[in-house]
Amino acid sequence: MKLLEDRIRKDGIIREGNVLKVDSFINHQMDIKLFEEMAKEWKRLFADKKINKILTIEASGIGIAAIVAREFNVPVVFAKKSKSINLDDNNFSTKIQSFTHSKIYDVIVSKKFLSPEDHILIIDDFLANGCALLGLTDLVESAGATVEGIGIAIEKGFQQGGKIIREKGYQLESLAIVESMNAADNTITFR
Ligand code: G4P
Ligand code: NA
Ligand code: NA
Repeated sequence: MKLLEDRIRKDGIIREGNVLKVDSFINHQMDIKLFEEMAKEWKRLFADKKINKILTIEASGIGIAAIVAREFNVPVVFAKKSKSINLDDNNFSTKIQSFTHSKIYDVIVSKKFLSPEDHILIIDDFLANGCALLGLTDLVESAGATVEGIGIAIEKGFQQGGKIIREKGYQLESLAIVESMNAADNTITFR
């Protein structure tokens, strides 16, 4: 999506270690007009899918997912990064490995908000190694619900997540796929 790529080129900041900071329009301050355009693009890309619910994960997926939910006119649920005290029979739970923070954490969704009748569009801001997404698809499948598609704002194409998710057969639509980035001269290329 050219609008998002242009914005990343203009306002994204490349840090050492292949980290892309997008704090001025996604991860801290949020550009809702941009989110609306992204939501319209996903609406077009998933036009043939019967989607009745959006699923994301806290924290930074929530803003984008809320705008997407309005575009699709459906509710949005966010998976919670849980303390183990919440791991009971009332929740679906899974474990997610974070490479960035080198730890494993539990993620939950209440059984009240995911059921076999649900046709889910998963939304998140970043796709890197894919651990967060695999956790979300695991939660949906635990509920017997259907993953209709996955929408990602920024995929880091040089990490493995996109390949893993596509090989599992999911329709993954990333609006910007970063092929490479260089902190030294602040240059970025898109797939
Ligand atoms: P993975 O889920 O794809 O395996 O990602 P990984 O563990 O590597 O990333 C951990 C966190 O860092 C995730 O946020 C992810 O969205 C974010 N992330 C990964 N690469 C980048 C990057 O280049 N730039 C930015 N801005 N974020 C990146 P999180 O910690 O789960 O959550 P939250 O920030 O939504 O609370
Ligand atoms: Na994040
Ligand atoms: Na995120």
